[in-house]
Amino acid sequence: MGKTSQLEGFYKLSPEERLKIVKDFANLNDEEMKIIKNTGSLKLDQANRMIENVIGTIEIPLGIAVNFLINGRDYLIPMAIEEPSVIAAASNAARMARVKGGFRTSSTEPIMIGQIQLTGVKDPSEAEETILSNREKIIEIANEQDPMLVKIGGGAKDLEVRVLDAPSGPMAIVHLLVDTRDAMGANVVNTMAEAVAPFIEKVTGGSVNLRIVSNLADMRLARAEAVFDSGVLGGEKVVDGIIEAYEFADSDPYRCTTHNKGIMNGIVAIALATGNDTRALEAGAHAFAAMKGGYKPLTTWEKTPDGDLLGRIELPMPVGIIGGATVVHPVAKVCLKILGVKTARELGEVMAAVGMAQNLAALRAMVTDGIQLGHMKLHARNIAVMAGAEGELIDEVAERLVREKKIRLDRAKEILQEIQGRG
Ligand code: MEV
Repeated sequence: MGKTSQLEGFYKLSPEERLKIVKDFANLNDEEMKIIKNTGSLKLDQANRMIENVIGTIEIPLGIAVNFLINGRDYLIPMAIEEPSVIAAASNAARMARVKGGFRTSSTEPIMIGQIQLTGVKDPSEAEETILSNREKIIEIANEQDPMLVKIGGGAKDLEVRVLDAPSGPMAIVHLLVDTRDAMGANVVNTMAEAVAPFIEKVTGGSVNLRIVSNLADMRLARAEAVFDSGVLGGEKVVDGIIEAYEFADSDPYRCTTHNKGIMNGIVAIALATGNDTRALEAGAHAFAAMKGGYKPLTTWEKTPDGDLLGRIELPMPVGIIGGATVVHPVAKVCLKILGVKTARELGEVMAAVGMAQNLAALRAMVTDGIQLGHMKLHARNIAVMAGAEGELIDEVAERLVREKKIRLDRAKEILQEIQGRG
């Protein structure tokens, strides 16, 4: 029998017991186990090679979202995040999605856009024509920068020209379209954009200003969809509530920003765990959301003819599994192994599915118990520890705080004294 990500009660296990399950699921070796277990796996000299002016490293919790069934395959999802409830919420939504077969995903080819800003052209339409008639040569110069990428089927594939009317005069913007395969690709795209600039200046007589990747990666999209059974969600009222919540986000940018923030909770947590560029994902997602005639939700929710809930998500997914921190950071490397993704596209599709799961869980919580209940349970445990509770007393104090809806340090201390007085 294949390995399953459906792990009932995973949350009740100790970190060591959980890690043992992940070890068996992902065939981690002793070295990889040590990396995940050891705090401070990113050594100072490794960190010092990643960024400038290094003085240390900062740690945040790494958890595993369970229950994900995506295109018929089980995944355990490593997520690095400081916020309580996110991983529990994703796991819970994934459990509900399994009932109707889990998530189905797709994606476009991994095409990134490099922008070359050409100014000082007298006739921008003529410059556009000149650039397009030199398409082959420009692509050739771009591809000379990375023969390896070309060899594996990637590289610059095409270009487009857009003419913009700016206050300082018209400018022609060249978009170099680069298939970056399994890399996020910002580096290779920037190198190519810089390399083709002198030739573009020569043939047009204009002058190139910026040469840089666009984070609006709208040619590199990941999609996911899933049906959630009405009964499992809690009935018709919950389904209708979720659709109304979605309509709220669709009609109001104030709500929509939070709706999309919840989606990015899941996506960015995987990005962080796998050493991907979280800012590129955030920037691309929100800009993409703003390109639909207003700022819109990245997910859509509708009722199926059977009364179940159908969710869809589509967003830019500039992520890689080679290059950058994905291969330098020891923990990121093990996280990629746990995910078991073979391509950057597959990683992006998994991330899209998790983003949608996150959204479903948040909407469902809000239309039923409210979002605070889940948050408060973990928060209450922290307060109990701060009040001095240890061992089994932590849960006992926390449960009372939640029950009383008074998650405060002074109350935690009182409860603790009371329990200790009893014993
Ligand atoms: C909290 O980090 C995320 C939510 O606010 C998302 C939402 O409101 O949809 C719960």
